Amino acid sequence: MTGIREAGVTGEDLELMSDGRRLRFPAVWLRDNCPCTECQDPGSGQKLKDITDIPNDLGVAASASAGESVLVTFAPDGHRSAFSRAWLAGHALDGSAASDGRTEDDKELWLAADLDIPQASWPRYLDRPTDRMQALADVLRRGFVLLRDVPTEPDMVLQVAASFGFVRETNYGRLFDVRVEPEPGNLAFTSRAIRPHTDNPYRDPAPTVQLLHCLRTAVKGDGEMGGGGDTGLVDGFAAAAALRATDAESFDTLARTPVPFGYIDKETELRASLPLIQLSPRGRIRGVRFNNRSVQPLRLPYAEVIAFYAAYRRWAELLARPERQLNLRLAPGDCLVLDNTRVLHARTAFGMTAGSPGRHLQGCYADLDGLASTLAVLRREENQ
Ligand code: OGA
Ligand code: ZN
Ligand code: ZN
Repeated sequence: MTGIREAGVTGEDLELMSDGRRLRFPAVWLRDNCPCTECQDPGSGQKLKDITDIPNDLGVAASASAGESVLVTFAPDGHRSAFSRAWLAGHALDGSAASDGRTEDDKELWLAADLDIPQASWPRYLDRPTDRMQALADVLRRGFVLLRDVPTEPDMVLQVAASFGFVRETNYGRLFDVRVEPEPGNLAFTSRAIRPHTDNPYRDPAPTVQLLHCLRTAVKGDGEMGGGGDTGLVDGFAAAAALRATDAESFDTLARTPVPFGYIDKETELRASLPLIQLSPRGRIRGVRFNNRSVQPLRLPYAEVIAFYAAYRRWAELLARPERQLNLRLAPGDCLVLDNTRVLHARTAFGMTAGSPGRHLQGCYADLDGLASTLAVLRREENQ
């Protein structure tokens, strides 16, 4: 750390210069972040003091430079803190940390044509931390990664999830088989086409990561050309940003209208009522939830229902634009890991032949917080 030239006191705040920038920190903020062993547990770094333990009339009584640190004495209680200058400069109150990594501000938004498919080979991903970091960063920044060469053995999808996080078990189990079932409780378990959607909008919180591992493709020559069952991916954040730019009123309607989603079967009754476009507290795009299959009857005032349906139609039309959809065909051994708060997935219908085993994927859910944690720890280890 270089460049802090002086430390001084103005009124109750701490002010100092850092690389030509004037930084200003309120006394209460400094005190809440005091790193001394009275204020923070040295082992865990967890805070030992509550906001109500901090005097209400707190001020900075004096400050002094000591090497790389700034020493602060507080009034009225005389408590003393030492802050590293580098730490203070890295925590300047300049609004530069407004995003939490989950909003549009931290993403690379894409159209299908812009994108080189983010991908990694599973054996290399396992062996090499740099490949692992790249793949996980791709999920966070571009919304998905395609892992290749994952052995086509049952349950491998759980190992993929465990490589970066924790499986989210649901009423479908730790994992679910996507193949044609005789009595499907979900359209996923038929051979029908499924339009772009996010999974499980009827949960709150919805799983934030989805994995789909291809064990067997549809046989060529059956049903549609090439067997069908091809995958489509749409960047929901890019689409939402486009909607905001072209039709701000529909965007606002979708961000403000809670939509009831439900999933009901013999053992299960899941319901969640949330907007199709979720904004951060600062109004930035932070999540999309889109699944025509599970929308329940809206029970809003008449005029709101009319406005919602107009906006919903505009949004669905925009999401269905061909230039937004990346088409790919999962081969056996391919495992998609996608951000289920952002990227919509779809599949084309597929054919079946009597006597042949048919298309088979295995899926499971996990969460972005665990994935981001794994990436942060890998980066920490790399910098050591
Ligand atoms: C799903 C799903 C896509 C596919 O199971 O959630 O969307 O390719 N499946 O079968
Ligand atoms: Zn302290
Ligand atoms: Zn799905």
